[in-house]
Amino acid sequence: MNIGIDKIGFFTPHLYLDMKDLAQARNEDPNKYLIGIGQSKMAVIPPTQDVISMAANAADQILTAEDKEKIDMILFATESGVDNSKSGAVYLQRLLGFKNQVRVVEMKQACYAATAAIHFAHGHIAMNPDSKVLVIGADNARYGLKTKGEVTQGGGAAAMLISRNPRILSIQDDATFWAEDVMDFWRPLGHDEALVDGKYSTNVYLDFFKHVFDEYQAKTGFDISKFDALCFHLPYTKEGYKALKIAIEGADPTVAANLTREFENVRKYSNQIGNLYTGSLYLGFLSLLENANDLKAGMRIGLYSYGSGAQGEFYSGLLRPGFEKQIKHQAFQNVLDARQRLTVEEYEKVYNSRIKDEKTRMLDIESDPAKYVFAGVKDYQRQYLRK
Ligand code: CAA
Repeated sequence: MNIGIDKIGFFTPHLYLDMKDLAQARNEDPNKYLIGIGQSKMAVIPPTQDVISMAANAADQILTAEDKEKIDMILFATESGVDNSKSGAVYLQRLLGFKNQVRVVEMKQACYAATAAIHFAHGHIAMNPDSKVLVIGADNARYGLKTKGEVTQGGGAAAMLISRNPRILSIQDDATFWAEDVMDFWRPLGHDEALVDGKYSTNVYLDFFKHVFDEYQAKTGFDISKFDALCFHLPYTKEGYKALKIAIEGADPTVAANLTREFENVRKYSNQIGNLYTGSLYLGFLSLLENANDLKAGMRIGLYSYGSGAQGEFYSGLLRPGFEKQIKHQAFQNVLDARQRLTVEEYEKVYNSRIKDEKTRMLDIESDPAKYVFAGVKDYQRQYLRK
């Protein structure tokens, strides 16, 4: 049975910081951020957006009433969860108007969990061919002001509808994975920002890529020439570029050149948003679909998922006939171009204004143009609104 991604939507808030401005404020050469890290802009998350409101905004773009009727499972992947007990998915049941006959659950393994969710959805649909599953990866990547990780922050949500006879990507049963207990990046309970052993984390990411890609080739007999594009988890785009270099080492020059050209399409949106943890790999896939001009049905796309702590996985999907009808060329670029640029002072103020551990505080939602917003807390209960 053909099972995979039928629809894909994405949301990031209306505010951004230009990396040249950040470099100037932090006394760094702008080329370190623009070229060395590979980021030109960074999404700034206002206090009126969190993983749940961003997820609602992403899912709302792709779901019809008929989809909602067929969806019997919502898998919400995040590492920026807002409650230690209640899942983000159950808020979406009400906010987006799902029926009550739906399973709702939140999943965590750093930036990897949305990939696990896709495979769990695959298994569920294999046993229940008429059902559809909503998979969401939503995160707010925070390292702290004036930290080394600051330039690799960002945030947003990717929403995917997983179904039988998908119209975008048919997921292949070829995954290879590698798990190992390492401390490269983590966020202890009560901490608002991630702790990270930065250089070590970048090496573990690449080591895990070698493990899973070598095993993939041994398992399937496919070498790099079988791929038409490679998508990577992009904590910052230079890191994905380093993984690409490993993948194309020794490859036929034409194959290497094609994959390098497609990688520029893969990283185009992430370059302007930054890290978004669970959704990052799938933002890269959307960016490829919307920006490449030479994709064809049947082409094989490789996907490398990485979640610190750590889990790596490589798998592939085949583009479905008619996939281009599901995509609007460069549509998300228009959304990114319409964002409001903040000064560094404004960004710092926004960064410090989010609600944390407060019993009651309502937020000014008028300044946020998004359809779904986080309006504040009353007696520790989070308030979400559809405007
Ligand atoms: N012009 C061009 N390039 C320059 C430059 C200049 N003027 N100045 C420096 N550079 C280059 C450096 O040579 C370096 O390139 P290479 O990586 O190719 O060696 C690059 O810019 C970065 O410079 P530094 O290594 O000096 O940067 P740093 O010490 O400030 O730290 C970082 C960079 C480790 C990525 C840090 O930003 C960080 O800790 N980020 C968060 C952790 C992270 O993103 N890890 C990724 C793997 S973990 C993961 O994937 C999960 C996840 O989502 C977090």
